[in-house]
Amino acid sequence: MKKVFVKSYGCQMNVYDAERMADALAAKGYVEARTAEDADLVILNTCHIREKAAEKVYSELGRLREMKKERATEGRQTQVVVAGCVAQAEGGEIVRRAPVVDLVVGPQSYHRLPELLAEASARPGVVDTEFPAEEKFDHLPAPAREKIRARGVSAFLTVQEGCDKFCTFCVVPYTRGAEVSRPVAKILAEAERLAGAGVREITVIGQNVNAYHGEGPDGRDWTLGMLLERLAEVPGLARLRYTTSHPRDMDETLIAAHRDLPALMPYLHLPVQAGSDAILAAMNRRHTGDEYRRIIDAVRKARPDIALSSDFIVGFPGESDADFEATMRLVADIGFASAYSFKYSPRPGTPAAEMEGQVPEPVKAERLARLQAALDEDRRAFNAATVGRTVDVLIERPGRHAGQLAGKSPYLQAVQLETEGLTVGDIVPVEIVGTAPNSLFGRLAAGPPEERASAA
Ligand code: 5AD
Ligand code: SF4
Repeated sequence: MKKVFVKSYGCQMNVYDAERMADALAAKGYVEARTAEDADLVILNTCHIREKAAEKVYSELGRLREMKKERATEGRQTQVVVAGCVAQAEGGEIVRRAPVVDLVVGPQSYHRLPELLAEASARPGVVDTEFPAEEKFDHLPAPAREKIRARGVSAFLTVQEGCDKFCTFCVVPYTRGAEVSRPVAKILAEAERLAGAGVREITVIGQNVNAYHGEGPDGRDWTLGMLLERLAEVPGLARLRYTTSHPRDMDETLIAAHRDLPALMPYLHLPVQAGSDAILAAMNRRHTGDEYRRIIDAVRKARPDIALSSDFIVGFPGESDADFEATMRLVADIGFASAYSFKYSPRPGTPAAEMEGQVPEPVKAERLARLQAALDEDRRAFNAATVGRTVDVLIERPGRHAGQLAGKSPYLQAVQLETEGLTVGDIVPVEIVGTAPNSLFGRLAAGPPEERASAA
């Protein structure tokens, strides 16, 4: 019996892809190992979004080279695979720089993994970074029921891949290719299989998920809002989320879904990147700061309690002090419940990497610290405001200590509670009684949460 270990870096799409790779290999008799040391096949599922993410791959490959060498002296074989976006971006260069690698495989070829591995055993150094015409999802085997269950009550489901937006800082349109949406019927079948195995919450994912325009059962292109409405009818599914979105694609059907679908959780991750119109234009974001504010107003009108999240880049080429202040103003105006923020990292082959006015490192560091302090304060304030409220919590796993359970609030906050008689997958009203830096504490409430009580 061979063992595979998949190490994923980066976004949720990679988490989903890692599971699909494991499924493809399970069909060939591989079982999953918990560590690289325990595996015969190690797959690094890489991320290319920022320089640091890509560097990690090469340092990990250095470690694997030692491991592989040591094992070879014992007559034991190890196969090393680089998958994901670094594989797509660097291709054969990886094998030249790190001959320990047996196979380089891009995200569009995962369904070919078993045959590529066989090819690589005979002749190490195989590279497949094609964008084949066929739908890879049609060729990836479905996971077994027990496997779905073991992965938890909250699952990802890819509905869209690739991006046509070409923000000038971003490698995604090059590594993941053009936008492709899966047909509604295929997504529904996958959702039903997940729910049938006990999944309670699905996060539909895509690099630009709200640009979704897959073929519906009526032969017309459906929007993400329409898809969510249909998914909300899947028996057993209690919660829906989606990520990650572009402001330009927040259409009326999606905003209406936030108003009309109780299953659609009140949480929106909508990257804005910056607050200055000049920088937004240089980023090719195709919206201004005020347009973003108006979209948020419309979303809040549809779902007043929605928790907002975003991504920010500081130190984009040409960003002046005044530009950065516009970002700080936007943050103050909106009040985000959570956010991710990064220093601009030039990515080879993207337009921004060639732009004049690259911002010095210390300036980026200072801006990032200021931005993160503000975002942190808003996050704390948002969490503190939940104290005293009763919210529905999806129980996801046993907590850190005996008798403790860990789950998620509708606003994607981690919640710990101590109680008996509940099982993973239950959704229960919880009164929030306190906060810690990364989670909330609660106790089982006597009555339903306010929203549900008032809706009833
Ligand atoms: N430098 C810094 N951050 C980046 N992101 C994407 N590309 C870069 C880059 N070159 C950030 C954006 C995006 C998130 C996934 O990563 O904020 O929304
Ligand atoms: Fe990258 Fe922009 Fe596409 Fe997001 S919308 S994946 S940031 S190009």
